[in-house]
Amino acid sequence: MNRPAATARQPAGAPWTALPRVRLALLPTPLMRAERLEAALGCGLLLVKRDDLIGFGMAGNKARPLEFLLGAARARGAEVFVTGGGPGSNFCAAAAQAARSVGMGCELVIWGEPDSPNLALAVAAGARLRPTGGSQREAVDRQVAARLAELGPRGFGVPRGGSTPLGAVGFAAAAAELAAQLAAPPSVIVLPVGSGGSIAGLLAGLAAVDLEVPVLGVSVSRPPEEIAARVHALAAGCAALLGTTPPRPDACTFVDARGSGFGIASELERERARLALHTEGLLLDETYGAEALSVAVDRLADGAGAVVWWHTGGILPAVRTMMKGTA
Ligand SMILES: Cc1ncc(COP(=O)(O)O)c(C=O)c1O
Repeated sequence: MNRPAATARQPAGAPWTALPRVRLALLPTPLMRAERLEAALGCGLLLVKRDDLIGFGMAGNKARPLEFLLGAARARGAEVFVTGGGPGSNFCAAAAQAARSVGMGCELVIWGEPDSPNLALAVAAGARLRPTGGSQREAVDRQVAARLAELGPRGFGVPRGGSTPLGAVGFAAAAAELAAQLAAPPSVIVLPVGSGGSIAGLLAGLAAVDLEVPVLGVSVSRPPEEIAARVHALAAGCAALLGTTPPRPDACTFVDARGSGFGIASELERERARLALHTEGLLLDETYGAEALSVAVDRLADGAGAVVWWHTGGILPAVRTMMKGTA
């Protein structure tokens, strides 16, 4: 199947244009003003970066790293893409579909109970599941490495979330994409953070295009100090790979959003997510979308002039929640 031609507006000679890339996403994703939601909440200017509309399966933000990861895998002549995650991993589902789109196989090391719409999609796309047989996330990366050692040059793999310096390049390019869409710099960019690759790439990309905007990461699974160290290392690695200026350590801050538990939104966050659906037709998952939107709204309530909230997708988990009637 032919992929659509590249449509991303990239600065001529942008450093990521030198890297092998597989086109998955329809770029740029829209940047939309949520006027009805603003009116319903009585808040200031809310711009939504619509990676939920990224145009490749249900991949959301994870299509971006996969373009560069699969580009490298293909350039090395690998036949099997190996990664892993939790049962609800959006990255795993996206990886399974993306590997297929370039004729590669996919193996997924999964901790916990392998029962979710995302894994059903991955299996339907032909991925082979390798359950760790336990509930420890850390086992995944060890088993991915072991499987890669067995496969040798036939395999290409990445740890959970695809969050490596190369994977982060996808969001470095997204920073340039956003910069080209903005009429004026916002007060802050808010995005949800899991394994940290997306925000790390965004920080590296903002520094590369010299756009100084504070970034606020909504950490859903790790304490702020832990995720900050991880993100700074990933961002520095990404900048080194691109040969660009690394972001300043104070370019971003983190909010601890683990409060109600991983994947569980509070009643206020659910209420705001419901409003986003009722006023703008935006569908949000509880793990990432509802948490990040709520932080963006809090910032506007605190007086931020204009906020960009990155809607990263999470569509299949959102549909599951909706069908359970708790959305
Ligand atoms: C829908 C969604 N949003 C945000 C994230 C966080 O991205 P990252 O893992 O790059 O921090 C993920 C991670 O899986 C995700 O699936």
